[in-house]
Amino acid sequence: MQTLPSVTYDQHAQLNAPLPKRLHSLDKFHGFSVESKPATFTKEEFIGSGCFGSVFKAKTIDGRQVAVKRISKDQLRYDCCLAEREKQNLEYISSLNYQHFIGYLGGYVIGANVQFVLELGDISLDKLLKLKLHEMNTHRFNNIAYQALGMVAFLDSIGMCHNDLYFANMVYFHSTDLIKLIDFERSTLPGDDDHESPFLDLGLLAGALFELQLSIKGYDKAYAMRKKIELSSTSNFDNFLRRDALWLDDLNEQSKYSIMAAGNIRNIFRKSPKAGETKGKEIVKGRECFSPRAHLPLTES
Ligand SMILES: Nc1ncnc2c1ncn2[C@@H]1O[C@H](COP(=O)(O)OP(=O)(O)O)[C@@H](O)[C@H]1O
Ligand SMILES: [Mg+2]
Repeated sequence: MQTLPSVTYDQHAQLNAPLPKRLHSLDKFHGFSVESKPATFTKEEFIGSGCFGSVFKAKTIDGRQVAVKRISKDQLRYDCCLAEREKQNLEYISSLNYQHFIGYLGGYVIGANVQFVLELGDISLDKLLKLKLHEMNTHRFNNIAYQALGMVAFLDSIGMCHNDLYFANMVYFHSTDLIKLIDFERSTLPGDDDHESPFLDLGLLAGALFELQLSIKGYDKAYAMRKKIELSSTSNFDNFLRRDALWLDDLNEQSKYSIMAAGNIRNIFRKSPKAGETKGKEIVKGRECFSPRAHLPLTES
């Protein structure tokens, strides 16, 4: 039987400590009236959660639907450093106005909870793909790969490493067919102690893309996961690329190669950081190979 981890002394100390000042100095969000500033949410308002926050729908005074990401101190996994980093990164990205980054509207603190107010996506990409896998095809796959590689190109241009670039951290907007990146709590910028190259984001992304195209092809999750591990550890690209059973039938050769190289980016960096940078640039620059592309399937929500 699984036992829950016990609360350590450090965690108790952290839960009881006041919120750091930097979290109180959020770019305040004034779009909720005092009475309606959401402190608690209902089950119906819940949209999703990751390993850090819970996200809910809310309405502003002028009737706009927004997403509120709540990071609460009663969660054992609460970490002030991550909350501060997310605040800093959201404030920075909101100034860039980039089409593939989620809009950040501001934040507020209620008691021990920090909440970030965000533009509301129609659905998480991860969920969309689970619901609509049977309607996915190569053209729709190409759309996702193209947009996601565009995100890496932009991350490189600002020097940011997202550090968690996969479908659960992307939301989809059906009317514009845009995929936007969310969840910047682990993202780093040049100057941060633990900063790495933005091109290392390609590794996780390529694994997700490779697994997705195997699922579209009809393989089960366990098989797709096994092959994904093989992809990131193989050094024989040619052999892997020749195995037609591992690739969507009408995916072009250049696209297969890009996924293969992106999946191996960490190994390339390990051998030579310079070669890693060059390969990363080549992959994102060549993203037009993911053509032709089609609008993603409609969701009922
Ligand atoms: N702006 C948003 N619009 C729609 N759904 C969102 C939005 N932000 C987050 N979500 C949903 O909530 C989930 C958790 O959000 P995320 O920021 O990834 O939290 P965590 O830091 O805990 O991983 C996401 O996977 C997504 O399903
Ligand atoms: Mg997340």
